[in-house]
Amino acid sequence: MDAREMKIKAAEAALAHVENGMRLGIGTGSTAEEFVRLLAEKVAGGLRVEGVPTSERTARLCVELGVPLKSLDELPELDLTIDGADEVDPALRLVKGGGGALLREKIVAAASNRVIVIADETKLVETLGRFPLPIEVNPFGLVSTRMAIEKTAARLGLTGSLVLRQSGDGEFTTDGGHYIIDASFGRIPDADALSSELNSIPGVVEHGLFLNMAALAIIAGPAGARTLRANR
Ligand code: A5P
Repeated sequence: MDAREMKIKAAEAALAHVENGMRLGIGTGSTAEEFVRLLAEKVAGGLRVEGVPTSERTARLCVELGVPLKSLDELPELDLTIDGADEVDPALRLVKGGGGALLREKIVAAASNRVIVIADETKLVETLGRFPLPIEVNPFGLVSTRMAIEKTAARLGLTGSLVLRQSGDGEFTTDGGHYIIDASFGRIPDADALSSELNSIPGVVEHGLFLNMAALAIIAGPAGARTLRANR
């Protein structure tokens, strides 16, 4: 089974949690896109749902495939969000933002009664940090913010490169008009401390640590999809 087939398996299993009439948060990334494709088939077959996309990219795919969309302001409380992840640890804490949509993803997840993460098994880690942590920052004061991130990380014993994400011949810009710094801290032993310290830096808009948000993770491997539950 190749990586795409595993993503499809996870997306198929997540679809079983979608019920008629649901208000759905719809994630971003290659795994979430497999979910959108399967969801669109169900919608064509009569399933009634309203989706809130977590990025312009997901919104375009939904429109193209006929998945009905609303804004988060029209549907400020969601029943369920299905989204991918860059890393999933045993407590279902996540690193997200590899695709650059972390801010909207986190806002949508926080507005959802339940979050289900879908991923292939390569995303499972014992401790978060193998994947560089995306930190979304305001372009204003970029150098100061970057220094503040460095100092904050050092206080927590974390070092590693901080790289401003590029796209084409310029800085990568998020849907919200911000930049992303990818922080290669390596193993993050205290994700809660890092999360709150990063949140206290004024130029940091949001970061990719999604802690205590996912209720279930559907993880696909060659043998099929299995469901992990958060022990909370
Ligand atoms: C988007 O910004 C991310 O949070 C994605 O959910 C994450 O990068 C997973 O993407 P893939 O499903 O493409 O691996």
